[in-house]
Amino acid sequence: MKGRIMKAFIFDLDGVLVFTDKFHYAAWKELADGLRVYFDKEINNRLRGVSRADSLEIILERYTGPALSKQKKTELMEQKNNSYRKLLAQMTPEDVSSEVRETLAKLHEKGYKLALGSSSKNARFILERVNLMEAFDAISDGNNITHSKPDPEVFVKAAEFLGISPLECYVVEDAHAGIDAAKAAGMTAVGIGEAAGYERADVKIGCFSELMELV
Ligand code: BG6
Ligand code: MG
Repeated sequence: MKGRIMKAFIFDLDGVLVFTDKFHYAAWKELADGLRVYFDKEINNRLRGVSRADSLEIILERYTGPALSKQKKTELMEQKNNSYRKLLAQMTPEDVSSEVRETLAKLHEKGYKLALGSSSKNARFILERVNLMEAFDAISDGNNITHSKPDPEVFVKAAEFLGISPLECYVVEDAHAGIDAAKAAGMTAVGIGEAAGYERADVKIGCFSELMELV
């Protein structure tokens, strides 16, 4: 919190830096329709911050067809990811707002370390598409974790990669699961978007540039 010496910011990706949530929704919706499973934006909100495998299980809560083998579930996840990546391939640097770019640059100038803490295995692909790779000192993503949010692993690893104590890190998140993960890591949780209405967030912000009020 302000007053304690904070050294780093760890950012979630989807729904915080870029709005890929609409692509996740479109790709899961296509899959759910194929399985004749009801899926809407409210169910999609439950997938925020949750791994691909856990997301599939949430979608299948309403599935009533024949039993699905592990192999079939893997195929379904691949199918979803292929549709999702086709949508991601359309992304350009214009998909990151100047507000986000400028705030990241200002935080860096002030001496803060910046890391990514995303459950996504597509995180690096997205950062390359939108030209944000250079903005981060470390990247912790779905490829270096075994437990997804609300488990703190992705953020703990991000702090480790930066060489900074969890107590000195802010986490910026749009997902309830991400706020829970940040708290479990002993970090200060900043809620934006959906998570700005979550009571467990230590700080709630209405827009990205409000982060400058913390420093
Ligand atoms: C998170 C998203 O960032 O990444 C989740 O909020 C998503 O909705 C998760 O399920 C995993 O993403 P991917 O790209 O590895 O399927
Ligand atoms: Mg998110």
